[in-house]
Amino acid sequence: MPLVNMKPLLRDAMDNGYAVAAFNLVDYGTTKAMVAAAEELNAPVICQTSTKTIQYWSHKEIVSWVRTVAEDSPVPVVLHLDHCKDLAMIEACAKAGWTSIMIDASELPFEENLEMSKRVRDIAEKYGVGMEAELGQIMGVEDDMHVAEEDSVLTDPEDAQRFCDALDLSAFACAVGTAHGFYHGDPVVDFDRIKRINELTKTPMALHGGTGLSDETFLKAIERGSAKINISTNLKHVFVQSFVDYHTAKPTDFEPLRLIDAQYQACKTMFSGFIEKFGGKDRAPAYLSKAA
Ligand code: 13P
Repeated sequence: MPLVNMKPLLRDAMDNGYAVAAFNLVDYGTTKAMVAAAEELNAPVICQTSTKTIQYWSHKEIVSWVRTVAEDSPVPVVLHLDHCKDLAMIEACAKAGWTSIMIDASELPFEENLEMSKRVRDIAEKYGVGMEAELGQIMGVEDDMHVAEEDSVLTDPEDAQRFCDALDLSAFACAVGTAHGFYHGDPVVDFDRIKRINELTKTPMALHGGTGLSDETFLKAIERGSAKINISTNLKHVFVQSFVDYHTAKPTDFEPLRLIDAQYQACKTMFSGFIEKFGGKDRAPAYLSKAA
C-alpha cells in the first residue's frame, strides 16, 4: 500500500496502548527486512532516516526503496525523517515523498525552538505529512549531535503543554531520562514525567534512545503515552556483527548474497522482537479498517 501519514497511526497507537517501532534504516536490505518483519506480525512500522543516511544515499534512492517495499506490503509503513535541524533538508524530504518530518531545534531557547518548529509545521501542512518536534535535550550521540549528560535537560511538563498546543504534532520528542547510544549504567527513566507530559499535551510521545532499555521500561513508557519508540544503535550493531559472525563461521564463503541474506535475517529477527515487545503485533488490520 502507499506510504501512510504518521499522525493518525500514532493516535491509534496511543489510544490503544501500543507503540509503533521506528527503526533508522541503513540501506535497501535493512528497509526490506523491517517491512518484512512488520508484515509477518501484521504490524505497522516506521522506517526512519537520519540526515547522515540521506546525505550518503540521496532522497531519491531512499524514497524509491521505501515506496517499493511498502507498495508490495499490506501493512502501514511511514517514511519519517529523524532529528533534522536544516529547514531546506526538511522541505526536500517532504517534497520527495517522506510522510513525516522531524525538526530538532531543542538546543535553542524555548521561543526560538517554537518559532523554528512552527516553520516546519507550515511545511508539514503544505505537503500533508506528519511532524515530530523536540523540547528538552536528550543525552547521548545521534548522527553528528552530541549531548553530554551534564548538558541534557529534562522536559518541563508545563512547557511541553505550551509547545504542543502551538504545534499540533504527530509525535512529541522529549527528554525523560533516556539516551541515544548504548547506556553506561542503568538508565533512570522518569515515568512520572512521561505520564504528566502525556496528561498535559495529549500528544503521542516519541521515546528516543530505545537501544538498551528493559522490557519493563518499554511497557511502563507505553502505558504512560509513548506511542513511537526509536531504535538505531541496536540495528547498527546487529548489522555489523552479523556480517562478522557469518564470515568468521564461513571464512571461505565468498558468495555475497548468502552473506547479506544472513545479515538481513539477523536484522529482521531483531526488528520482530521490538515490534512484538511494543505491542504492535496484529494492530495493522484494526488500524486500516478504522482509517478506511
Ligand atoms: P538509539 O540509538 O539509542 O537506539 O536511539 C535511537 C533514536 O532515538 C533515534 O532518534
